[in-house]
Amino acid sequence: MRHLLKLQDLTREDILSILNLADQLKFERNNGIKKDYLKGKKLGMIFQKSSTRTRVSFEVGIYELGGYGLFLSSNDLQIGRGEPVQDTARVLSRYLDGIMIRTFAQKEVEDLAKYGSVPVINGLTDYAHPCQVHADLMTIREYKGSFKGLKMAFIGDGNNMANSLMVGAIKTGMEFAIACPKGYEPDSELMKWAAENGAFTMTRDVKEALKDADVVYTDVWASMGQEGEKAKREKAFAGYQVNEENLKVAKHDVMCLHCLPAHRGEEISEETFEKHAKEIFEEAENRLHAQKAVMVKLMK
Ligand code: CP
Ligand code: NVA
Repeated sequence: MRHLLKLQDLTREDILSILNLADQLKFERNNGIKKDYLKGKKLGMIFQKSSTRTRVSFEVGIYELGGYGLFLSSNDLQIGRGEPVQDTARVLSRYLDGIMIRTFAQKEVEDLAKYGSVPVINGLTDYAHPCQVHADLMTIREYKGSFKGLKMAFIGDGNNMANSLMVGAIKTGMEFAIACPKGYEPDSELMKWAAENGAFTMTRDVKEALKDADVVYTDVWASMGQEGEKAKREKAFAGYQVNEENLKVAKHDVMCLHCLPAHRGEEISEETFEKHAKEIFEEAENRLHAQKAVMVKLMK
Protein backbone atom coordinates (compact mmCIF):
# COMPACT_ATOMS: atom_id res chain seq x y z
CA MET A 1 0.00 0.00 0.00
CA ARG A 2 1.67 3.22 -1.21
CA HIS A 3 -1.20 5.71 -0.94
CA LEU A 4 -4.69 6.03 0.52
CA LEU A 5 -6.73 7.38 -2.39
CA LYS A 6 -9.94 5.33 -2.12
CA LEU A 7 -11.14 2.20 -0.32
CA GLN A 8 -11.29 0.13 -3.51
CA ASP A 9 -7.49 0.18 -3.72
CA LEU A 10 -7.17 -1.59 -0.37
CA THR A 11 -7.53 -5.26 0.42
CA ARG A 12 -9.50 -6.47 3.42
CA GLU A 13 -6.12 -7.24 5.03
CA ASP A 14 -4.87 -3.67 4.42
CA ILE A 15 -7.96 -2.27 6.13
CA LEU A 16 -7.75 -4.64 9.10
CA SER A 17 -4.07 -3.95 9.57
CA ILE A 18 -4.73 -0.18 9.69
CA LEU A 19 -7.54 -0.78 12.21
CA ASN A 20 -5.31 -2.99 14.38
CA LEU A 21 -2.56 -0.38 14.42
CA ALA A 22 -5.13 2.34 15.16
CA ASP A 23 -6.33 0.35 18.20
CA GLN A 24 -2.73 0.02 19.37
CA LEU A 25 -2.04 3.74 18.92
CA LYS A 26 -5.23 4.62 20.81
CA PHE A 27 -4.16 2.35 23.67
CA GLU A 28 -0.68 3.90 23.76
CA ARG A 29 -2.07 7.45 23.76
CA ASN A 30 -4.60 6.64 26.49
CA ASN A 31 -1.79 5.19 28.61
CA GLY A 32 0.68 8.01 28.14
CA ILE A 33 3.02 5.95 25.96
CA LYS A 34 4.69 8.24 23.42
CA LYS A 35 6.67 6.80 20.53
CA ASP A 36 8.10 8.88 17.68
CA TYR A 37 7.07 6.54 14.86
CA LEU A 38 7.53 9.36 12.32
CA LYS A 39 10.35 11.34 13.87
CA GLY A 40 11.23 14.34 11.73
CA LYS A 41 8.77 13.43 8.93
CA LYS A 42 6.89 16.26 7.25
CA LEU A 43 3.25 16.05 6.12
CA GLY A 44 1.80 18.71 3.81
CA MET A 45 -1.96 19.16 4.18
CA ILE A 46 -3.66 20.78 1.17
CA PHE A 47 -7.19 22.05 1.78
CA GLN A 48 -9.45 23.25 -1.03
CA LYS A 49 -12.52 22.88 1.23
CA SER A 50 -13.27 23.68 4.87
CA SER A 51 -12.49 21.25 7.66
CA THR A 52 -12.56 20.93 11.43
CA ARG A 53 -11.90 17.25 12.15
CA THR A 54 -9.63 16.35 9.27
CA ARG A 55 -7.39 19.35 9.69
CA VAL A 56 -7.01 19.16 13.44
CA SER A 57 -6.71 15.38 13.68
CA PHE A 58 -4.02 15.24 10.99
CA GLU A 59 -2.08 18.16 12.45
CA VAL A 60 -2.24 16.78 16.00
CA GLY A 61 -1.62 13.28 14.69
CA ILE A 62 1.62 14.01 12.87
CA TYR A 63 2.82 16.05 15.87
CA GLU A 64 2.12 13.16 18.25
CA LEU A 65 4.09 10.84 15.98
CA GLY A 66 7.14 13.08 16.23
CA GLY A 67 6.68 14.73 12.84
CA TYR A 68 5.57 18.10 11.55
CA GLY A 69 2.44 19.14 9.67
CA LEU A 70 2.11 22.05 7.25
CA PHE A 71 -1.37 23.45 6.69
CA LEU A 72 -1.55 24.50 3.03
CA SER A 73 -4.72 26.37 2.13
CA SER A 74 -5.47 26.48 -1.58
CA ASN A 75 -6.27 30.17 -1.07
CA ASP A 76 -2.56 30.70 -0.56
CA LEU A 77 -1.02 27.99 -2.75
CA GLN A 78 -0.36 28.60 -6.45
CA ILE A 79 -2.61 25.60 -7.13
CA GLY A 80 -5.49 27.97 -6.24
CA ARG A 81 -4.32 30.23 -9.08
CA GLY A 82 -4.16 27.43 -11.59
CA GLU A 83 -0.70 25.85 -11.20
CA PRO A 84 -1.22 22.28 -12.44
CA VAL A 85 -1.42 19.51 -9.86
CA GLN A 86 1.23 17.59 -11.81
CA ASP A 87 3.76 20.34 -11.09
CA THR A 88 2.62 20.90 -7.52
CA ALA A 89 3.07 17.16 -6.91
CA ARG A 90 6.64 17.11 -8.21
CA VAL A 91 7.65 20.20 -6.26
CA LEU A 92 6.06 19.21 -2.94
CA SER A 93 7.55 15.71 -3.19
CA ARG A 94 11.00 17.30 -2.93
CA TYR A 95 10.19 18.91 0.42
CA LEU A 96 7.73 16.58 2.10
CA ASP A 97 7.44 12.93 3.22
CA GLY A 98 3.70 12.75 2.63
CA ILE A 99 0.77 14.81 1.33
CA MET A 100 -2.81 14.85 2.56
CA ILE A 101 -5.27 16.58 0.23
CA ARG A 102 -8.93 17.59 0.53
CA THR A 103 -10.40 18.70 -2.77
CA PHE A 104 -13.29 18.33 -5.23
CA ALA A 105 -12.23 15.99 -8.04
CA GLN A 106 -10.93 12.51 -7.27
CA LYS A 107 -8.73 12.82 -10.36
CA GLU A 108 -6.73 15.56 -8.68
CA VAL A 109 -5.85 13.23 -5.82
CA GLU A 110 -5.00 10.42 -8.22
CA ASP A 111 -2.82 12.81 -10.26
CA LEU A 112 -1.02 14.01 -7.16
CA ALA A 113 -0.10 10.39 -6.44
CA LYS A 114 0.79 9.69 -10.07
CA TYR A 115 3.13 12.63 -10.56
CA GLY A 116 4.52 12.95 -7.05
CA SER A 117 6.92 10.55 -5.37
CA VAL A 118 5.62 10.59 -1.77
CA PRO A 119 2.55 8.90 -0.26
CA VAL A 120 -0.74 10.72 -0.86
CA ILE A 121 -3.72 10.54 1.51
CA ASN A 122 -7.23 11.48 0.39
CA GLY A 123 -8.73 13.73 3.07
CA LEU A 124 -12.07 13.89 1.16
CA THR A 125 -13.11 14.38 -2.42
CA ASP A 126 -16.59 14.55 -3.95
CA TYR A 127 -16.16 10.82 -4.61
CA ALA A 128 -14.62 9.36 -1.47
CA HIS A 129 -13.70 9.86 2.19
CA PRO A 130 -11.49 6.89 3.05
CA CYS A 131 -9.98 8.37 6.24
CA GLN A 132 -13.43 8.83 7.73
CA VAL A 133 -14.40 5.26 6.93
CA HIS A 134 -11.38 3.85 8.74
CA ALA A 135 -12.45 5.77 11.86
CA ASP A 136 -16.03 4.52 11.36
CA LEU A 137 -14.96 0.89 11.04
CA MET A 138 -12.72 1.26 14.08
CA THR A 139 -15.67 2.59 16.10
CA ILE A 140 -18.00 -0.18 14.91
CA ARG A 141 -15.48 -2.83 15.94
CA GLU A 142 -15.01 -1.18 19.34
CA TYR A 143 -18.75 -1.27 20.02
CA LYS A 144 -19.72 -4.52 18.35
CA GLY A 145 -16.56 -6.62 18.79
CA SER A 146 -16.36 -7.69 15.13
CA PHE A 147 -17.95 -7.05 11.75
CA LYS A 148 -19.35 -10.54 11.43
CA GLY A 149 -23.08 -10.70 10.72
CA LEU A 150 -23.62 -6.94 11.00
CA LYS A 151 -25.94 -4.92 8.81
CA MET A 152 -25.09 -1.29 8.08
CA ALA A 153 -27.82 1.01 6.79
CA PHE A 154 -27.10 4.36 5.17
CA ILE A 155 -29.94 6.87 4.93
CA GLY A 156 -29.70 9.87 2.60
CA ASP A 157 -27.45 11.12 -0.14
CA GLY A 158 -25.39 8.65 -2.19
CA ASN A 159 -22.36 10.90 -1.73
CA ASN A 160 -18.66 10.50 -0.91
CA MET A 161 -19.53 8.95 2.46
CA ALA A 162 -22.01 6.48 0.99
CA ASN A 163 -19.50 5.46 -1.71
CA SER A 164 -16.72 4.81 0.76
CA LEU A 165 -18.83 3.20 3.47
CA MET A 166 -20.34 0.82 0.95
CA VAL A 167 -16.89 -0.44 -0.05
CA GLY A 168 -15.61 -0.50 3.53
CA ALA A 169 -18.65 -2.41 4.77
CA ILE A 170 -18.57 -5.01 2.01
CA LYS A 171 -14.80 -5.50 2.32
CA THR A 172 -15.10 -6.14 6.05
CA GLY A 173 -17.96 -8.59 5.51
CA MET A 174 -20.92 -6.48 6.60
CA GLU A 175 -24.26 -6.27 4.82
CA PHE A 176 -24.88 -2.79 3.37
CA ALA A 177 -28.26 -1.21 2.59
CA ILE A 178 -28.84 2.32 1.38
CA ALA A 179 -32.11 4.25 1.18
CA CYS A 180 -31.88 7.31 -1.06
CA PRO A 181 -34.22 9.31 -3.30
CA LYS A 182 -34.20 8.83 -7.06
CA GLY A 183 -31.35 10.72 -8.66
CA TYR A 184 -29.19 10.64 -5.50
CA GLU A 185 -27.75 7.13 -5.73
CA PRO A 186 -24.10 6.29 -4.98
CA ASP A 187 -21.63 5.75 -7.82
CA SER A 188 -23.11 3.17 -10.21
CA GLU A 189 -19.89 1.20 -10.70
CA LEU A 190 -19.43 0.91 -6.96
CA MET A 191 -23.01 -0.31 -6.54
CA LYS A 192 -22.38 -2.96 -9.21
CA TRP A 193 -19.19 -4.00 -7.43
CA ALA A 194 -20.99 -4.15 -4.06
CA ALA A 195 -23.79 -6.31 -5.45
CA GLU A 196 -21.26 -8.72 -6.95
CA ASN A 197 -19.09 -8.91 -3.86
CA GLY A 198 -21.44 -8.99 -0.92
CA ALA A 199 -24.91 -8.37 0.47
CA PHE A 200 -26.02 -5.03 -0.98
CA THR A 201 -29.44 -3.36 -1.26
CA MET A 202 -30.44 0.00 -2.71
CA THR A 203 -33.99 1.09 -1.97
CA ARG A 204 -36.20 4.21 -1.80
CA ASP A 205 -37.76 2.91 1.42
CA VAL A 206 -36.07 4.15 4.61
CA LYS A 207 -37.62 1.44 6.79
CA GLU A 208 -36.60 -1.32 4.41
CA ALA A 209 -32.96 -0.21 4.71
CA LEU A 210 -33.21 0.21 8.48
CA LYS A 211 -34.88 -3.17 9.10
CA ASP A 212 -32.72 -5.12 11.58
CA ALA A 213 -29.79 -2.76 11.11
CA ASP A 214 -26.93 -2.94 13.64
CA VAL A 215 -25.29 0.28 12.47
CA VAL A 216 -27.08 3.29 10.98
CA TYR A 217 -25.19 6.04 9.21
CA THR A 218 -26.25 9.32 7.74
CA ASP A 219 -24.64 12.46 6.34
CA VAL A 220 -25.70 15.92 5.22
CA TRP A 221 -28.15 16.32 2.33
CA ALA A 222 -25.98 18.99 0.68
CA SER A 223 -22.24 18.37 0.73
CA MET A 224 -19.50 20.98 0.41
CA GLY A 225 -19.74 22.49 -3.04
CA GLN A 226 -23.50 21.79 -3.28
CA GLU A 227 -24.66 24.72 -1.15
CA GLY A 228 -26.53 26.18 -4.14
CA GLU A 229 -28.75 23.06 -4.31
CA LYS A 230 -29.82 23.29 -0.67
CA ALA A 231 -33.51 24.10 -1.27
CA LYS A 232 -33.90 21.51 -4.03
CA ARG A 233 -32.23 18.88 -1.89
CA GLU A 234 -34.35 19.64 1.18
CA LYS A 235 -37.38 18.77 -0.93
CA ALA A 236 -35.84 15.64 -2.42
CA PHE A 237 -34.66 14.30 0.94
CA ALA A 238 -37.82 14.99 2.96
CA GLY A 239 -38.50 11.79 4.92
CA TYR A 240 -34.92 10.53 4.59
CA GLN A 241 -34.22 11.20 8.23
CA VAL A 242 -32.73 9.04 10.96
CA ASN A 243 -35.13 9.48 13.88
CA GLU A 244 -36.69 7.48 16.71
CA GLU A 245 -39.77 6.55 14.69
CA ASN A 246 -37.78 5.15 11.76
CA LEU A 247 -35.30 3.42 14.06
CA LYS A 248 -38.06 1.27 15.59
CA VAL A 249 -37.43 -1.33 12.89
CA ALA A 250 -33.66 -1.48 13.55
CA LYS A 251 -32.04 -3.77 16.16
CA HIS A 252 -32.65 -2.70 19.76
CA ASP A 253 -28.92 -2.10 20.31
CA VAL A 254 -28.43 -0.19 17.04
CA MET A 255 -25.57 2.30 16.92
CA CYS A 256 -25.90 5.55 14.96
CA LEU A 257 -22.89 7.19 13.36
CA HIS A 258 -22.39 10.50 11.58
CA CYS A 259 -19.18 11.79 10.04
CA LEU A 260 -20.10 15.35 11.12
CA PRO A 261 -20.83 18.19 10.70
CA ALA A 262 -24.48 17.27 11.36
CA HIS A 263 -27.61 19.20 10.47
CA ARG A 264 -30.06 18.39 13.25
CA GLY A 265 -33.65 18.31 12.05
CA GLU A 266 -32.55 17.41 8.51
CA GLU A 267 -30.74 14.08 8.04
CA ILE A 268 -30.95 13.26 11.78
CA SER A 269 -33.34 14.37 14.52
CA GLU A 270 -32.01 16.25 17.53
CA GLU A 271 -33.26 13.49 19.83
CA THR A 272 -31.54 10.68 17.95
CA PHE A 273 -28.32 12.63 17.58
CA GLU A 274 -28.11 13.30 21.32
CA LYS A 275 -29.10 9.74 22.21
CA HIS A 276 -26.14 8.48 20.18
CA ALA A 277 -23.75 11.34 20.93
CA LYS A 278 -21.37 9.05 22.83
CA GLU A 279 -20.63 6.85 19.82
CA ILE A 280 -20.68 9.78 17.38
CA PHE A 281 -17.99 11.65 19.30
CA GLU A 282 -15.98 8.48 19.87
CA GLU A 283 -16.10 8.14 16.09
CA ALA A 284 -14.80 11.71 15.76
CA GLU A 285 -11.96 10.97 18.19
CA ASN A 286 -11.10 7.84 16.25
CA ARG A 287 -10.24 10.00 13.23
CA LEU A 288 -7.04 10.84 15.11
CA HIS A 289 -6.07 7.25 15.87
CA ALA A 290 -7.03 5.87 12.45
CA GLN A 291 -5.14 8.58 10.57
CA LYS A 292 -2.07 8.17 12.74
CA ALA A 293 -2.16 4.50 11.75
CA VAL A 294 -2.49 5.43 8.06
CA MET A 295 0.46 7.83 8.30
CA VAL A 296 2.65 5.26 10.06
CA LYS A 297 1.78 2.63 7.45
CA LEU A 298 2.53 4.96 4.54
CA MET A 299 5.30 7.23 5.76
CA LYS A 300 7.48 5.11 8.05
N1 CP B 1 -15.94 14.40 9.00
C1 CP B 1 -15.06 15.31 8.50
O1 CP B 1 -14.28 15.04 7.59
O2 CP B 1 -15.09 16.52 9.13
P1 CP B 1 -14.37 17.87 8.66
O3 CP B 1 -15.05 18.31 7.40
O4 CP B 1 -14.57 18.81 9.80
O5 CP B 1 -12.92 17.57 8.42
N1 NVA C 1 -20.54 14.64 2.48
C1 NVA C 1 -19.93 15.67 3.29
C2 NVA C 1 -18.94 15.07 4.24
C3 NVA C 1 -18.25 16.05 5.14
C4 NVA C 1 -17.25 15.40 6.03
C5 NVA C 1 -19.27 16.69 2.37
O1 NVA C 1 -18.63 16.27 1.40
O2 NVA C 1 -19.39 17.89 2.62
